[in-house]
Amino acid sequence: MKYNFLKHGVLATLFVTLSCNTTKQNIVPDTTKPAPQSIIDRKVDSILSLMTLEEKVGQMNQYNGFWDVTGPAPQNGAAAQKYEHLKKGWVGSMLNVRGVKDVKALQKIAVEETRLGIPLLFGYDVIHGYKTISPIPLAEAASWDMEAIKKSAEIGAAEAAASGLNWTFAPMVDVARDARWGRVMEGSGEDPYLGSQIAIARVHGFQGNFSEFNLAACAKHFAGYAFAESGRDYNTVDISDNTLHNIILPPFKAAADAGALTFMNSFNELEGIPATGNAYLQRDILKGEWNFDGFVVSDWGSMAEMINHGYAKDLKQAAQHAANAGSDMDMESYGYVKHLADLVREGKVDEAKVNDAARRILKVKFQLGLFDNPYKYCDENREKQTIGKKAFHDGVLDMAKKSIVLLKNENNILPLKKQGQKVAVIGALANDKTSPLGSWRIGADDGTAISVMEGLKQYNGNELVYAKGADVALGNPEFTLNTKINMTDKSGFAEAVNAAKGADVVIMILGEHGLQTGEGRSRSEIGLPGVQQELLEVVYKANPNIVLVLNNGRPLTIPWAAENIPAIVEAWHLGTQSGNAIAQVLYGDHNPSGKLPMSFPRNVGQVPIYYNHKNTGRPTEEGPESVFWSHYTDVHNSPLYPFGYGLSYSTFEYSNLKISTDKLTAGGNITVSVDVKNTSNTDGKEVVQLYLHDLFASVTRPVRELKGFELTPIKAGQTKTVTFTIDEKTIAFYTANKKWEAEAGDFKVYVGGSSDAALESNFTYTK
Ligand code: BGC
Repeated sequence: MKYNFLKHGVLATLFVTLSCNTTKQNIVPDTTKPAPQSIIDRKVDSILSLMTLEEKVGQMNQYNGFWDVTGPAPQNGAAAQKYEHLKKGWVGSMLNVRGVKDVKALQKIAVEETRLGIPLLFGYDVIHGYKTISPIPLAEAASWDMEAIKKSAEIGAAEAAASGLNWTFAPMVDVARDARWGRVMEGSGEDPYLGSQIAIARVHGFQGNFSEFNLAACAKHFAGYAFAESGRDYNTVDISDNTLHNIILPPFKAAADAGALTFMNSFNELEGIPATGNAYLQRDILKGEWNFDGFVVSDWGSMAEMINHGYAKDLKQAAQHAANAGSDMDMESYGYVKHLADLVREGKVDEAKVNDAARRILKVKFQLGLFDNPYKYCDENREKQTIGKKAFHDGVLDMAKKSIVLLKNENNILPLKKQGQKVAVIGALANDKTSPLGSWRIGADDGTAISVMEGLKQYNGNELVYAKGADVALGNPEFTLNTKINMTDKSGFAEAVNAAKGADVVIMILGEHGLQTGEGRSRSEIGLPGVQQELLEVVYKANPNIVLVLNNGRPLTIPWAAENIPAIVEAWHLGTQSGNAIAQVLYGDHNPSGKLPMSFPRNVGQVPIYYNHKNTGRPTEEGPESVFWSHYTDVHNSPLYPFGYGLSYSTFEYSNLKISTDKLTAGGNITVSVDVKNTSNTDGKEVVQLYLHDLFASVTRPVRELKGFELTPIKAGQTKTVTFTIDEKTIAFYTANKKWEAEAGDFKVYVGGSSDAALESNFTYTK
């Protein structure tokens, strides 16, 4: 259906003229491709020339859904005012309104009742799926499988777009080193290179070719949010320019280069200036250096929060700072709608800044095809046919299996035998149909995940006994966790011990409830919550033949389990198909190939812990009595499980590391190859990883940096040669000259199946 602009005479005439000039043969636009930039720019300019200052500011205003759209219009209070603003064309976007019926009703007001009929953007946090839920993003990152991750984003986009939405507040590309921070579940872990590849996969997956099955993506949170001091959400951030550029920014740059239409700024300050009012980030780097031509939305209320930060004396000044710094759209602070027009009239904000922001926002609306058809995403039939499609369930199951990481498998206790076993399943999470949905799955319905018990029951050759043992959290975890995380009830222990005693093998499903991680869910202790550790130890005494399956949204400190429990499976929060994925891995119908995207600390005192740390001036012990080197007196420096680590039911042997030449020259490249042999009887997949160490530079460099990886299937007994190419781009970094460049010097190369890869070589780069 083509939207009829005849109601708005001026716009209709303008558009027809433009269409005739440019698309002579076919005036119906091809909505599968974004129209060429120049045409869009001209259309945007023509609309801008018709807009009043207030209407332009209106485009910069985003409201949360504020009334039951299908009920009567709000008559008084804040909702009535928002409603008035909507009808005046003073709202550019809504968030948290979903479902074709509601979206259509609001879009109708925007396009049919406002003076210019400019369509709205409808944003929503489609972070890991919409109704059919994918694994949490951190889990997906563990797959190192860019195709699967892209597919997962496509599924989320297709479902959400069928429900009327056209914009997701994802991907979150914050590199995160501190597992206390609850939002590590939402990103890709600790590495900028892996994070960049995933950012690209997700942007492509969400945005596709801007069809009605896609959403505009939003790279967030720009920037530094994950570096909150002590891992406490929303806390102060204090990082160097070096860390900002070399560690934090690369995935954002990758997302911008991949064509992400929007960015979201962050709650934190950077160099004492809150990100929302930070011109260095938004104007100089993003829109300046990177030439980003989409728009920046603030985070929820982050403009107003500049008052609490102590950076703005009131909302008006906050709006001034934000507008001048290049924050284009205000999410729920009401700063722009209340004050921006006055700020322009008073000469405190140049109108050119408002024009620029409105232009960027309108452009995205054009790129999505909303001016051609504002109801592009509003087809009720499509909505019915699309949500919960079988193909989506198959897709998220595939993603879930690929996200699982095998941490330990002593004596090949896994995979489990399919027949004749008595299996005890212990842990409240085993029977939970909501927790696996994880945090940020606000479009999904509670109780819609396949539980582990349901998954295991598909295999009926064994006898299954279930015992809860202990709860993970009391009450509704969404609201009570802060105070009730330390639940102490051990009354279920005896039943669990009994079940374990009579079993051949015990599967313990322990960890965090899906809502114990995510926004606002920072923890100061990151072991198994409540009495689960005690439960594990008690059950172990009764029967040590335990497979521990972890459900969690962050690295946990599990040193006792790592030492004592024979098999440990990291199964995160895997989404709707969680139980099926876990069962298929436990029974060997899927051979795990996941690798950790974040280091697992031995204890919380090691946090932040990450593989790509600097060397320090005193990196090593100088003798048995030595004290004055960089270490702890009570725990090793190394993590419990390093970044990039993960086992498989296959075993792989690395050999024959070869480098084409040990001299890299300007404009040239070298290749590094390695043989990887599957020494087992089981076909498998391995993530072959390449790391570099730049030994001396104008600023200190990490001891290792991931610079390439390949997820490759290797059949039982087969040897594969994997080759990587290194050039100046591979070794470039943000130098003392404050720019990205390759510096002459010596490099070490490491290749293997983890960040502690042992095979090494070296080369020299000369300019
Ligand atoms: C979060 C964002 C999210 C926004 C809208 C904020 O609290 O930090 O990541 O997109 O809310 O829901």
